[in-house]
Amino acid sequence: MKSAHAKFIAVVFLAVCLAPQAFGDAPIKDSEKSQTNNPQFHKALLDIAAKYTSYGKVDDMAKWAPWLCAAPPPPKARVSMSSDSDTHGRKLYYLFAANRNEYVAKKPPQVGQTVVKESWVPQVGVVNTAGVSPKLSHQSDLFIMTKLDPATKDTDEGWIYGTVTSDGKTVTSAGRVESCMKCHIQAKNDRLFGMKENLPVIGN
Ligand code: HEC
Repeated sequence: MKSAHAKFIAVVFLAVCLAPQAFGDAPIKDSEKSQTNNPQFHKALLDIAAKYTSYGKVDDMAKWAPWLCAAPPPPKARVSMSSDSDTHGRKLYYLFAANRNEYVAKKPPQVGQTVVKESWVPQVGVVNTAGVSPKLSHQSDLFIMTKLDPATKDTDEGWIYGTVTSDGKTVTSAGRVESCMKCHIQAKNDRLFGMKENLPVIGN
């Protein structure tokens, strides 16, 4: 009786110890993996960074981001950036769309649609009567979304998300970027939120 009891305890003990390992080893399908910086999409994102200004701005006004689409900070700058809540919270952006009419009319985005948010840091200490800075200080990250064929592997139903440094040279996130997807999968028009007409705007 005693030894049966001991055996039972030993089996339970082994099961508890081995189970997490067994689960840990369970294969995760590639398509379900969230890649935060998938090199296979770097070339596409760098090409977009090089040419997006030729798309033309969606409109001519800089808008306040109600919340900034959070970009993973570049390596090394992590600490200083995360402690700088002003930089994170209050940024402005210009919007560029490869197919402007489709974007503005909120039509279902077609393969090839590309939208770029060019973010800017406002000047500190200059505020207008609305309590916001009317002056842009310097350009910050590019936030990019581009739609490929929905069957493309490692995309979010065809969408690639990405962030590129302001000089257009370094991709800091690419692919199925979880931090982007968690918001954008909630957007009504196939991952795009579209223009919000009543957002506060300022002139340049
Ligand atoms: C906290 C939620 C949130 C996260 C996280 C987020 N976004 Fe957004 N994004 C929005 C909202 C809301 C809009 C529309 C309003 C605006 O312009 O800010 C938007 C707009 C955009 C647009 C313009 C296209 C559109 O949807 O109309 C792009 C491009 C974009 N985001 C890229 C990104 C990228 C790239 C990431 C990840 C690095 C990201 N976003 C993360 C909420 C988010």
